[in-house]
Amino acid sequence: MSTINIAIDGPAGAGKSTIAKMVSAKLGYIYVDTGALYRTIALYITENNIPDEDIEKSLENADVSLKFIDGAQRVFLGGRDVSDLIRTPEISMAASRTSAIPAVRAYLFGTQQKIARENNVIMDGRDIGTVVLPDADVKIFLTASAEERASRRFKELSVKPDCPDYEEILRDIIQRDYQDMNRETAPLRQADDAVLVDTTKLNLEESADQIISIIKEKTGGGK
Ligand code: DC
Repeated sequence: MSTINIAIDGPAGAGKSTIAKMVSAKLGYIYVDTGALYRTIALYITENNIPDEDIEKSLENADVSLKFIDGAQRVFLGGRDVSDLIRTPEISMAASRTSAIPAVRAYLFGTQQKIARENNVIMDGRDIGTVVLPDADVKIFLTASAEERASRRFKELSVKPDCPDYEEILRDIIQRDYQDMNRETAPLRQADDAVLVDTTKLNLEESADQIISIIKEKTGGGK
């Protein structure tokens, strides 16, 4: 029996993970956050101070895996649950850099494809519709203006201590967009057959509803 695969790609801070979680809960699919895999590799490289020239070789020992606990994804590095540790601005920037390395992408490619082969998934990332799941049943390219994405991130972070200011967050977003879109291997881009959803003027419910309608239309009822 073949599985249903939904790909959601787009730039950092477009709301992919929150919206994909809402949609997958509604449809009963597994939500796979592939950015967490790249973040975990970045954590591995940072914690072990691995120099650029040794990254490829070191991946043999990285031992990155995903588990779904009560439907929620957790990511493990050598058996340790690092799902929370990978959510810092430093790891965000490091992940954007390490994800440009072809050997890192090749290392994570099989993990992502296997999950999609075995489950109905909503998988979010940068290259899911273009590279990882080119035959996905539905492809969405989710975006919003850089200013809107920065202001959402600022609101989210402003409740925490040491919140960076809005300008700094905007700069980080613009820099990550640039790195993600201009790398040679699997750059962030909209697949030719992806549907563009711009959430600049939509709230979360409106964005999720729009995506659910697209999925239902393309899969004949969401199955
Ligand atoms: O979605 P995120 O911010 O957690 O992703 C972290 C970084 O990982 C992002 O800057 C780009 C990279 N990434 C990627 O290159 N390909 C993916 N499929 C997912 C993430």
